[in-house]
Amino acid sequence: MDKKKIAVLTGGGDAPGLNAVIYTLTKTCILKYGYELIGYKFGYRGLYTNDFMPLTLENTTGILHKGGSILYSSNKDNLFDYKVKDENGNVIRKDVSDVAIANLKKEGVDALCILGGDGTLTSARDFARKGVNVVGVPKTIDNDLAATDRTFGFNTAVNIVTEALGRLHTTAESHHRVIVVEVMGRNAGWIALYGGIAGSADVILIPEIPYTLDNIIQKIHERDSRGKLFTIIVVSEGAMELGGTVTVNKIVKDSPDPIRLGGIANKLTYQLEKLLGEEHEVRPVVLGHTQRGGETSPYDRILSARFGSYAAKMIHEEKYGNMVCLDHSVISYVPLEKVVGSQKKINPETDELVEVARDLGVSFGDRPVIRKK
Ligand code: F6P
Repeated sequence: MDKKKIAVLTGGGDAPGLNAVIYTLTKTCILKYGYELIGYKFGYRGLYTNDFMPLTLENTTGILHKGGSILYSSNKDNLFDYKVKDENGNVIRKDVSDVAIANLKKEGVDALCILGGDGTLTSARDFARKGVNVVGVPKTIDNDLAATDRTFGFNTAVNIVTEALGRLHTTAESHHRVIVVEVMGRNAGWIALYGGIAGSADVILIPEIPYTLDNIIQKIHERDSRGKLFTIIVVSEGAMELGGTVTVNKIVKDSPDPIRLGGIANKLTYQLEKLLGEEHEVRPVVLGHTQRGGETSPYDRILSARFGSYAAKMIHEEKYGNMVCLDHSVISYVPLEKVVGSQKKINPETDELVEVARDLGVSFGDRPVIRKK
């Protein structure tokens, strides 16, 4: 058997399922193909500083169900535009990708398996263009990668949102409150749409459908008129009012995608409370990083295991420069060149779940409520 040395890294924001991919890849590469593995720590940063650990059956045992990444992660380190100090001690940005490639050569790495979302996979493509043998695996709770039907991490996040909405329903009802629940997803509303439908939200606000405050107030009043004196609003962090802009929490300068969204639940709560006056108290709940933490859902464990097993097979067959993907329930692969740069967003006109939600009486805040008798 041709003994290869495989390196693995996890980049970008973490997502439940990273450990399941690492686990399956390690087991498959060692037991099926007889390969040796190392894992670079903190994503691309470890590749630059040559900070790695061996991945063995012993040190990966028991991690399949656990969230996070035993290799840690970073969503700041783009080695093609990296912050370093020059000879005068001044901080400059520089392409240090050749240092990473030299490190791979020094360690005798034959192939690099990169687990990440859009930003991480953009660098994966760029390393592939420079001749590195790369295989990508699609990760993100946002489910916004166009080249795969699902990313791992998304299902777990939806489960967490659904569970939270179940809890918030009972307390909202007791106090006749309006509760505004902010969920992640960047500029795509998948988590809000899936979590909102599964958790019986009354209003779902997503980046793809701008809303008006008037339409939300109307929905609250319509519920009041039916004796439903509480309302659950799920708002995606990237949602915006018609004619408005996104709500930015902070700018992380070193990040390939520097804008961190956040704060819309607080803003909306303030606006709605002003409009509703004494009628209802409004409370914001920001689910934040709970959506990425804890145990990985069974669906994501299985998807990650399928991705990990297939990535090992791709390395064995030297199908480099590609990313594993899910294509209509079948695990397959796509060229990394086709993976990056086009975010998968909800199409309000054609996505079935938007229609399903409307059929359920959910308001997206874009239309006045029409209730036929
Ligand atoms: O891309 C995953 C994600 O969790 C987004 O949903 C969110 O906008 C962002 O990462 C948060 O990033 P950070 O962990 O840097 O706050």
